[in-house]
Amino acid sequence: MPTNTQPTEKKVSVVVIDDDKNILELTSLILSKQGFRIYAAESANSGFELIIRHSPELVLLDYMLPDMDGLTALQQIKIRFPDTYVVMLTGRGSEEVAVELMKNGASEYILKPFNNRNLAERLNNVLRIREIELHNRQLQKQQEELLSEIEQWNLELQRRVREKSEALQTAQKEILQSEKLAALGYLSAGMAHEIRNPLNSISLFIQLMRQTTDEPDQLDYQSKVLKEVERIDSIIRRLLDASRRTRNISSNVHIDEVIDNVVESFATQIETRKIVIDRRYHCIPSPIKADATELEQIFTNLFLNALDAMSHGGSLIFEVTEADDRVIIRVSDSGCGIPEDLLENIFEPFFSTKSRGTGMGLPVAQRIARMYEGFMGVEESSPNGTTFRLEFPILR
Ligand SMILES: Nc1ncnc2c1ncn2[C@@H]1O[C@H](COP(=O)(O)OP(=O)(O)OP(=O)(O)O)[C@@H](O)[C@H]1O
Ligand SMILES: [Mg+2]
Repeated sequence: MPTNTQPTEKKVSVVVIDDDKNILELTSLILSKQGFRIYAAESANSGFELIIRHSPELVLLDYMLPDMDGLTALQQIKIRFPDTYVVMLTGRGSEEVAVELMKNGASEYILKPFNNRNLAERLNNVLRIREIELHNRQLQKQQEELLSEIEQWNLELQRRVREKSEALQTAQKEILQSEKLAALGYLSAGMAHEIRNPLNSISLFIQLMRQTTDEPDQLDYQSKVLKEVERIDSIIRRLLDASRRTRNISSNVHIDEVIDNVVESFATQIETRKIVIDRRYHCIPSPIKADATELEQIFTNLFLNALDAMSHGGSLIFEVTEADDRVIIRVSDSGCGIPEDLLENIFEPFFSTKSRGTGMGLPVAQRIARMYEGFMGVEESSPNGTTFRLEFPILR
């Protein structure tokens, strides 16, 4: 702030705008002596140019100017240069005008003629107020910035909480599913034992019945029953074998060979059901670490579902690619598709839309994929077909 005692401080700039040359000279003289740096202009427009060039702290503005009335000049300065404070110079007897000017943003008004001491003192007062107000404005801006930063953080926090809650929900669902699967494994092993005994009895009684009749129809029915009993027995044996089977993990499983084996095992159905198989292996897939038989089970379950979905024939595409250290397999059928509202249920154990489905195909397949740190999900489904996506980490 300019005072006589501290002339070495950075000088405060003042643009004086007055068409009266005497006033200009007088104010310039008084204020320069008080340590202000003065720029003088005789019209509003040349005054604006000086403001643009020197960004002064203050403007001393005459109310009567040749090119613009004082009120308009004041309003323009307040809009264009908000950090520049304006002190108005008005003639005596126009206090009402002075009030109007203050309302429009003037910081002070000085009635002409004035005395030198009074002028400097009042400018210094305005400067002090200006300094406080600018400081306040800066604080306010910082506060607004802080508030908006806090708001951003809040949003980010909300987003993270939402994300974690969703992950938690998914994890809980998965735990429930694997518990159901474990219970089913335990139950089916027990049930298989229990069913095989009465099945044996049925088989024995039929064989006894065969010895008591010569009737061709009876004999035919009996042999059909026997065949069905044998079929049930072989299914149960397979189930038991699978549950007893020790896992055979190899580091050298090639997914293309796994798919080829499954396709081969379905050769008869492919022909009779008029299914076109399209194998698109875009690379020689890198080996993955898994039990090949378990991986075959995944594709077998997908194959069976695809056959069910394509009752009038269709195409089944197996696409194999690699990206980001993962083998990616897409299995696309041209079947009836999965309705959108069922998509979140199909991996639940026992969920089935088929009259004779057990609802175990997909959950078992997904569990196997996850066991090998892989992924299995529906990539796309529409009334024109369904694409399942599988991913397995490549062994490095
Ligand atoms: N490729 C597909 N196209 C249309 N719907 C499908 C397809 N795959 C699965 N689904 C739907 O998902 C459900 C669950 O499939 P999942 O294989 O788990 O059981 P399922 O086939 O019904 O019975 P299971 O396989 O145990 O005999 C099916 O009932 C069917 O509604
Ligand atoms: Mg199935």
